[in-house]
Amino acid sequence: MSDASALTKQEDDAPDVGELTPPDRTLMGPGPSDVHPRVLKGMSTPLVGHLDPSFVEIMDEVQELLRYTFRTDNQWTIPVSGTGSASMEAAIGNLVEPGDTMLVPTNGYFGGRMKSMAERAGGEVVEVSAPWGEPLDPVDVERAFDEHQPDVFGFVHAETSTGVLQPNVPELTDIAHDHDALVIADSVTSLGGVELRVDEWDIDVAYSGPQKCLSCPPGASPLTLNDRAMDKVLGREERPRSWYLDLSLLEGYWGDDRSYHHTAPISNVYALREALRLVAEEGIEARWARHRAVAGDLKAGLQDLGLEMNAPDEYWLPSLNAVRVPDGIDDGAVIDHLLEEYDLEIASGLGDLEGDIWRIGCMGYSARPKNVEYVLAALEDALGQQGF
Ligand SMILES: Cc1ncc(COP(=O)(O)O)c(C=O)c1O
Repeated sequence: MSDASALTKQEDDAPDVGELTPPDRTLMGPGPSDVHPRVLKGMSTPLVGHLDPSFVEIMDEVQELLRYTFRTDNQWTIPVSGTGSASMEAAIGNLVEPGDTMLVPTNGYFGGRMKSMAERAGGEVVEVSAPWGEPLDPVDVERAFDEHQPDVFGFVHAETSTGVLQPNVPELTDIAHDHDALVIADSVTSLGGVELRVDEWDIDVAYSGPQKCLSCPPGASPLTLNDRAMDKVLGREERPRSWYLDLSLLEGYWGDDRSYHHTAPISNVYALREALRLVAEEGIEARWARHRAVAGDLKAGLQDLGLEMNAPDEYWLPSLNAVRVPDGIDDGAVIDHLLEEYDLEIASGLGDLEGDIWRIGCMGYSARPKNVEYVLAALEDALGQQGF
């Protein structure tokens, strides 16, 4: 008898962990959102190799569906392996070279992350200011361009930390291009849920995540670059600091060669393909309209409860509804009550707005009338518990 087979279960020190049984939550927070059953099914289909001819075909289909969803003809449209921060760092880390200046916004949590990434890429960072809870004013952006002449300008189209949608995008991209700068748009909380037109609005680079309005598990994150941006990436003097996210190397896998760079997260690519197929079936404009209509009912219901939205109607973000916490209400107790009594997730404020707002997502498969009714009823109960 071998030593191995002589080991009994009692002598083995393997942890005794039970079967996976996560709670059945309704996800109405800032993401992830509820995943469509068809996406979950797609994700559990058998793997093929990441260079299998059948997978190469799937890659082509995902790229085509991503172009449709981003409203772009950019050849360079791919899912980056990793979460939204990976596609974000791929955008910033490839576009910003040491010595470049990047202009970033101060009006939310994710502008701050842009700043950190640009600094790590060796860039100098300058800021255009707006308070948390307000969009950027094109006049301020123009002024910042005149003062600093940045090479790259980043803005957050849908700021998840404040529930603010950046209007006037074509105005911002015009200012940047008049100053020979490239534009990076964070569309993590807008892609597939809020009007976004990469080509028509002349956005050079847009990155996103799958777990918000696409209702797909995190893991393969959309990114698109136009030729102008890709020329800069391929003409860099110094290689990007990340090997994994170097787009000139990733081109070998996602471009014509289809040669090995890293092992793609096959199941996440399957999931994204199904999530994007759902977008195409619904139609992108109908999908934007659904988000507005369902989130509009949510907003009206919240106001009927006596609550106030954080963002005025002109820049209200349907996919992320930031609601002010009324005076005297314990925001954390409400969140806990919803989770414990209703298996329902909403989130608190981040950064400057911590304790001031709740964040209620209305994204993808979660953007359904049934969910809106459920959130409103649960909130009414939770607020009632505190005498509101
Ligand atoms: C606007 C925005 N940008 C970037 C990210 C980063 O994405 P991830 O958390 O998937 O890495 C998020 C995530 O919530 C986001 O909301």
